[in-house]
Amino acid sequence: MIRSVICGSGSALPGKAVTNAELAERVDTSDEWIVERTGIRQRYIASDGETTGTLAIEAARKALSAAGMEASSIDLIVLATATPDQTFPATATKVQHELGCNGAIAFDVAAVCSGFLYAMATADSMLRTGMAKRALVIGAETFSRILDWEDRTTCVLFGDGAGAIVLEAREVEDGGPGIIATKLHADGAHGELLYVDGGPSTTGTVGKLRMKGREVFRHAVVNLSAVLSETLADTGLTPDDIDWVVPHQANARILDATARKLGLPPQKVIVTVDQHANTSAASVPLAFDVAVKDGRIKSGDLVMFEAMGGGFTWGASLVRM
Ligand code: ACO
Repeated sequence: MIRSVICGSGSALPGKAVTNAELAERVDTSDEWIVERTGIRQRYIASDGETTGTLAIEAARKALSAAGMEASSIDLIVLATATPDQTFPATATKVQHELGCNGAIAFDVAAVCSGFLYAMATADSMLRTGMAKRALVIGAETFSRILDWEDRTTCVLFGDGAGAIVLEAREVEDGGPGIIATKLHADGAHGELLYVDGGPSTTGTVGKLRMKGREVFRHAVVNLSAVLSETLADTGLTPDDIDWVVPHQANARILDATARKLGLPPQKVIVTVDQHANTSAASVPLAFDVAVKDGRIKSGDLVMFEAMGGGFTWGASLVRM
């Protein structure tokens, strides 16, 4: 069978880390409150000159280098972001030009925090139908640029960054590497719980992020638990077969609650929210790259990716390394 196989990963963070204590000088909050409610200790914030595009390019370069592949061999780039450099052209086309992936299909996908799962599923479908052979799938964000820095209920939760993987279509045996199963969902009825209050077609402004945190939390645990079970059900595998879960890094309490519902021990969950905060579409590939580079995720491991974000959108993907 043909499967999309992960051949390499890379990530990029802005140069500047901002601790909770530093944030507390700016808004009425404290390190204790942020750590207790979210698990976040610091986040990286883009400086002038650092953009979604520059972070995406750096992460993509590192992913290509880890895969030992030339940029010119890439024929598809799917970039997930809710904070593109410009409304258009797609930030993916900047990556294509900068890296020299000449002629590659390149476009952005907008599914906010689930964006990387949507982008990976899109690339997987295109690879398996033969539209492309080798893809860069990137999640990159500069959420710091759409935060209301006066609103303590949201500005402490997010950070900037990028992660990327290289996917290649390969003929593999049953039980071999590659994306095994993916489930994606959306429910636009809850758009008012997490949104940006601007846009090119409405206000003509970029807008700021608004969120009803408590309701988002409740939906996140329910939806993520359901989609994880649904993704496994199709494969005949059980939670015991999973070596690692790479979740969207929104909040340590959401990660704990979701793992508990599935009966997964916390040691199997990759957690970077303490260091990166919530980097939206970048969080899954960033966390994945951290765990590959530190040697936890290895060849042959069964890895579950999962995410939920504004829309709502949510999904999960099961991958053999
Ligand atoms: N510092 C200090 N106090 C604060 C802060 C802050 N940064 N933010 C809110 N508070 C106060 C509130 O004003 C409130 O005070 P009050 O009781 O006097 O009115 C109190 O803390 C409790 O506020 P709640 O909103 O009820 O706190 P909660 O326990 O729900 O925690 C949080 C808030 C962390 C946002 C939580 O609801 C959450 O994690 N929700 C999920 C949101 C999320 O992760 N969104 C990301 C995108 S979606 C996704 O990725 C899944």
